[in-house]
Amino acid sequence: MSKQKTYNRIARLYDILDMPFEHGRYKPVRRIIFEGLSGDLLDAGVGTGRNFPYYPKDARVTGIDLSHAMLGRAKWRKDKLGTAVELREMNVMEMDFPDDSFDSVASTFLFCVLDSEHQQPALKELRRVCRPGGIIHILEYAISEDPYRKFMMKLWAPWVRFAYGAEFDRNTEQYLDGVGLELVEKTFLYKDIIKLLTVRPKA
Ligand SMILES: C[S@@+](CC[C@H](N)C(=O)[O-])C[C@H]1O[C@@H](n2cnc3c(N)ncnc32)[C@H](O)[C@@H]1O
Repeated sequence: MSKQKTYNRIARLYDILDMPFEHGRYKPVRRIIFEGLSGDLLDAGVGTGRNFPYYPKDARVTGIDLSHAMLGRAKWRKDKLGTAVELREMNVMEMDFPDDSFDSVASTFLFCVLDSEHQQPALKELRRVCRPGGIIHILEYAISEDPYRKFMMKLWAPWVRFAYGAEFDRNTEQYLDGVGLELVEKTFLYKDIIKLLTVRPKA
């Protein structure tokens, strides 16, 4: 099933299914990923708008997503919270923005969803729309080295694949070099399973 169909199907339930994780682990992490981002800011794979409360006050934010149903939930959250964000239906691999449109880009749990063959095209697009000197933050899962956590993640993997079309082990950093991006920093923000990649276009 395409990712668009997957997310159109799950949109109504997404926030409910994610609630234990949102409150247990994602909230503090979301705050951190917007630190240091400013100006024209792209939230790629905006989903239901879980990042809205954490946008920098002075940023001009655009959120894109492939799923109109997820965007519908984001619109509801935008109205509820009064968030200043422009929402657009768009594929991250073919974005309708001119080159160098954004000072910064954030992407939370999008690259876990993109299939291996779509990682490079998506990163290439992020590089294209990010201005020279700009900064890209990518938040994604990694498989734990801890035997118990690793075992639990393997147990969860089939559900995560079915419900979200996602995998825990995309290792997005392996594709950066090939598209003219460089890894500035890799930091684990929750145990050794949620990592933030700080990336910038190569000079
Ligand atoms: C796991 S959700 C994460 C949503 C949100 N960023 C968050 O942190 O809660 C992944 C989102 O990526 C979107 N998505 C999947 N493939 C996409 C693509 N090719 N282009 C744009 N968005 C995509 C899905 O529709 C979904 O809303």
